[in-house]
Amino acid sequence: MRAAVSLLLLTLGGFVISAQLPFELSKQKPAFAELDGLGSEKWDLHTPPPLNSTSHFIFDSAHSLLLRWPNTRWRNGHIIIPATIPPGTLLYHGRTNSSIPSTPEWIATDPEHSYLFCLWDCWLLTLVTTRELKLLYFDGSSAAKGAFGSMDTQDVFATGQLRNRSGTPWASERGAILELCNWANTFGIDGFLRMEMDFEIMLCSFTQGVETVSMLNIVGGVPPPGQGFSASTRHSPYVDLDPSERHPSRRPLPPYDAWVGIDVEVINSGSWHNHVPGESRIKIDYSGLVTFYDITQYPSLVEVRRGFETERIRHRMGLATKEEREGVKKRIEGILKRNGKGSGVDWRTLLNVLVERFAGRLELMDYILDPEQSHFDNETVRLDRAKAQLTVMLTPYFVVDAVPPENLLISNDSTWANPIFRQCATTHTAHFSAFADVFTPEEQTQLAAVQGTTREICRVLVNMWVDAAGLGIGRGFAEKEADLLREWRHHLSSLRKWLGWSVWVKCRPSCGMEEICYLPTWPYFLGQVPQDVWWNTEPEPYCIRRIAPYNV
Ligand SMILES: *[C@@H]1O[C@H](CO)[C@@H](O)[C@H](O)[C@H]1NC(C)=O
Ligand SMILES: *[C@@H]1O[C@H](CO)[C@@H](O)[C@H](O)[C@H]1NC(C)=O
Ligand SMILES: *[C@@H]1O[C@H](CO)[C@@H](O)[C@H](O)[C@H]1NC(C)=O
Ligand SMILES: *[C@@H]1O[C@H](CO)[C@@H](O)[C@H](O)[C@H]1NC(C)=O
Ligand SMILES: *[C@@H]1O[C@H](CO)[C@@H](O)[C@H](O)[C@H]1NC(C)=O
Repeated sequence: MRAAVSLLLLTLGGFVISAQLPFELSKQKPAFAELDGLGSEKWDLHTPPPLNSTSHFIFDSAHSLLLRWPNTRWRNGHIIIPATIPPGTLLYHGRTNSSIPSTPEWIATDPEHSYLFCLWDCWLLTLVTTRELKLLYFDGSSAAKGAFGSMDTQDVFATGQLRNRSGTPWASERGAILELCNWANTFGIDGFLRMEMDFEIMLCSFTQGVETVSMLNIVGGVPPPGQGFSASTRHSPYVDLDPSERHPSRRPLPPYDAWVGIDVEVINSGSWHNHVPGESRIKIDYSGLVTFYDITQYPSLVEVRRGFETERIRHRMGLATKEEREGVKKRIEGILKRNGKGSGVDWRTLLNVLVERFAGRLELMDYILDPEQSHFDNETVRLDRAKAQLTVMLTPYFVVDAVPPENLLISNDSTWANPIFRQCATTHTAHFSAFADVFTPEEQTQLAAVQGTTREICRVLVNMWVDAAGLGIGRGFAEKEADLLREWRHHLSSLRKWLGWSVWVKCRPSCGMEEICYLPTWPYFLGQVPQDVWWNTEPEPYCIRRIAPYNV
């Protein structure tokens, strides 16, 4: 125990390394050495993940399922996964007459979303699920109608190829829902979950698994024809407006106040599902998670992403080879026939545990290292605070087997810290070696992604911590300190960019009580920015008003 304790003191208390450390411990073999069956090279602190690694994408997109914020940021979905809605759940549909749909239609989880489709003679249908509804969920902004990747997974799933979605973005929607529901009928699927400003479901039947609670004639949100807006604004209240008026935050107050209110309110109700737990009325089955970031199943996409590996906003699965695209439906059918037979491991919670563990601390570390955010007496103090914070993060992994060499101050050999690295990187997954037989192939992929992601987080943190130890304690090393702080900021920001977690995307300063933090969302950009530019630009959040007047 003494070695580890001394190390702690080394970083926390500012002790100079001395020969008093009990180096005889260094011969002790780590008890878990052979557990993962990987050679020691795996634990080289200087080997970053290969550029074609997708662990971080799989990790983040799996964690982001049912969360609106990250799926608004990373619009092009890469996941298809079975989902369910429990009995007793209310769902909504807005239309212009009181007939119950006899063909597939779109329904919403929040009435604010349905209200967009109500027009002046507004009929709001409220449904309740009478049994568990079975859905397929396409992640990303999969209801954002455009030709740049957000609808790839559903189109490839339905037809094996991309639909031509240029021109009128709504044109192929009716055909697409009929095609999907045709398939769904033969597989016991009730509908398809997608997301745009809020979550929506393409519901195949209004008589199976759902009952009508009410069909209410409510006051419409859109003025009748000839009184401000033309009838052609149906289904897209935005497209007929003057381009300068299209942005919710920049639109002048129109004659009908409610008109702007309904736009903001759908964003507002969507925002209730921004972060964990997200759209909690839907449940997903992680044992059937198909991700197109899986490079063993979809290797052609490695080539498609080449040169764009770090530009996640441009990734799209629709560019996979014909063979890969055409296999998607079969694969999903196989998973549905398997009928939810997974290990029972709660992947959603595991991913949350890891994001909770590191997101806030990495953000705090960034604050400590950044002179524009935090103020300390001098850079020596800043470095001390940073070292202390690193030590806090790694404390559960300071195994006694990690013993620094006597010549630590001049050595650049960091292999002595490998046991800490390994403990940090495997602590959340090592026990799953006993689950190998019960994991589905899709769970194996998730396991590898969790391993690859935690490995990189731990590699960067342990490297930084070893640097600090190697520096001695910092007194009288002013130049080295400044270098180190610069390097750490670089390592930390690279790590956070690599992870791509959207919990870090925030309005700064945070919004006032009358405002809401808004991440540019389809279709509110229409007319302002060329489509291809919009789809390929990572959105930045800003505050918009959520009470009238909306345009000041
Ligand atoms: C990914 O990159 C590694 C190292 O550069 C390479 O060995 C491997 O073959 C690549 N994998 C794919 C699927 O391209
Ligand atoms: C009711 O409105 C829907 C569209 O909102 C339309 O497709 C349908 O034909 C209408 N039904 C009747 C009976 O008017
Ligand atoms: C896709 O549709 C647009 C607009 O309807 C049309 O101009 C274009 O030629 C189509 N592209 C293909 C490849 O069919
Ligand atoms: C940095 O600030 C601390 C705390 O105020 C002080 O004790 C120390 O002497 C300062 N170091 C230098 C190099 O100025
Ligand atoms: C350690 O330092 C030596 C000599 O400066 C250098 O050749 C070697 O590449 C360094 N090793 C690492 C892992 O940085």
